[in-house]
Amino acid sequence: MAPTNICCIGAGYVGGPTCSVIALKGGDQVKVTVVDINQKRIAAWNSDELPIYEPGLDEVVQQCRGKNLFFSTDVAGAIKAADLIFVSVNTPTKLYGLGKGSAADVKYIESCARAIAEHSEGPKIVIEKSTVPARTAETLDRILRANCKPGITFEILSNPEFLAEGTAISDLMSPDRVLIGGSTTPEGQKAIQALSAVYEHWVPKDRIITTNTWSSELSKLAANAFLAQRISSINAMSAICEATEADVSEVARAIGKDSRLGAKFLQASVGFGGSCFQKDILNLVYLADSLNLHEVADYWRQVVILNDWQERRFSTRIIKALFNTVSSKKICILGFAFKKNTGDTRESAAIYVCQHLMDEGAQLAIYDPKVKAEQIDLDLKSVSQGQEDRVDRLVTVHSDPYEAMDGAHAVAVLTEWDEFKTYDFAKVYATMPKPAFLFDGRNILDHAALRQMGFEIEAIGKKI
Ligand code: NAD
Ligand code: UGA
Repeated sequence: MAPTNICCIGAGYVGGPTCSVIALKGGDQVKVTVVDINQKRIAAWNSDELPIYEPGLDEVVQQCRGKNLFFSTDVAGAIKAADLIFVSVNTPTKLYGLGKGSAADVKYIESCARAIAEHSEGPKIVIEKSTVPARTAETLDRILRANCKPGITFEILSNPEFLAEGTAISDLMSPDRVLIGGSTTPEGQKAIQALSAVYEHWVPKDRIITTNTWSSELSKLAANAFLAQRISSINAMSAICEATEADVSEVARAIGKDSRLGAKFLQASVGFGGSCFQKDILNLVYLADSLNLHEVADYWRQVVILNDWQERRFSTRIIKALFNTVSSKKICILGFAFKKNTGDTRESAAIYVCQHLMDEGAQLAIYDPKVKAEQIDLDLKSVSQGQEDRVDRLVTVHSDPYEAMDGAHAVAVLTEWDEFKTYDFAKVYATMPKPAFLFDGRNILDHAALRQMGFEIEAIGKKI
């Protein structure tokens, strides 16, 4: 039997890893082509330095690339050849016009639909892999039908992705569930079976959930909203802990033992980041508001408000502890990625903490094991509109953490990289003006030992 021919439009954090695992697990029964309009990104996927850092990804790509996994800019050719087409393009928050700052921008989804209609010469199953506003499948359907060649049919499925960055490969290899939403018609059910067969190469059947299209689309927004809400909930508790001498780690352990609550995702922090939590909650808020469900919108909006406040609260603590002025003081920032094991900085809490410290004139020395200096420069300039030159004056990026910490008034941990726990802080302490401050925005360091060395420590949700 000929292999199932799969095309994925969008070679990003989702399209690349997801298709690499489909190719690995599907073997000679699938042929996967990942396409993108970004030539530089495709060139990187075809090189020894992949465009994204993800543990385990290099090995998977090396095993499959050139055999049953291909990266290309030939969008038309890949659409033509495919039976199944994943749409895995970005759906950022709209920055203009109607729904600005809240609605998801689906222009890239629409352009994919138009390209699929234009280049399809036979029936296709089109799969929403991107996270989309509710009822986007209807939009896709209308565009495809209005523009396709005579006699060509499309089935649209929703198959949201639940991987987290930093653990993408293991999440894809053994997912908690795969969700497939489709139409209840016989054709819709046949399409669901075709996509399910791809996952059944490695995912047990009882982990493949099927629903109607709209439940599937909404479940993705709901899952991210619930996850982010847990972080805002524990971060809200962290502020109460700081004022009452309760310890947020102890509170998290105590409530997490309740099997109804569970222990995961209760790590208090400087705030959640990443390209999706805020975007997807705002997308939900927009949906609720447009349905005149304003109380529902307000409820979810508060998760984002709390997160912004938590980031601001952390930078304010730094400023206050340093005698209300950080002007011209060297502050070392350990970690710039939005979480460990990724080089992704999108919506990272570090960007906003650094922005606040730059507003106060601090000299920032930044170290992150995986984020490139150009990316940090870009991110900090993007929050310095009209005064981009301050980044050149105030910020240095280091490839050696000890150089970044050397002589700093304060060290602030903003990402939970494991290597930070292994540093020789006694050596660092000796170089710092006194009092020497350490702000642990992730609660990963050994506070008692650091205090013993002489550091003044501030952590999230606890008195040290
Ligand atoms: P990304 O920005 O890394 O990648 C998207 C890619 O799509 C880009 O390379 C872009 O050039 C390409 N693209 C845009 N329009 C195109 C077109 N018309 N033709 C061809 N290529 C086009 O985004 P991502 O992080 O991979 O996220 C993709 C989607 O998956 C989003 O909807 C996101 O919400 C969702 N998602 C992301 C994650 C994550 O961890 N990043 C997890 C689950 C779901
Ligand atoms: C998240 C979800 O976990 C994925 O299921 C989802 O597919 C994805 O969003 C998406 O739709 O993009 P991701 O953002 O990659 O994945 O990473 P998470 O592990 O969820 O972390 C998000 C942020 O929350 C990070 O900044 C992390 O440091 C923070 N976090 C996480 C906490 O502050 N505390 C926690 O207990 C957990």
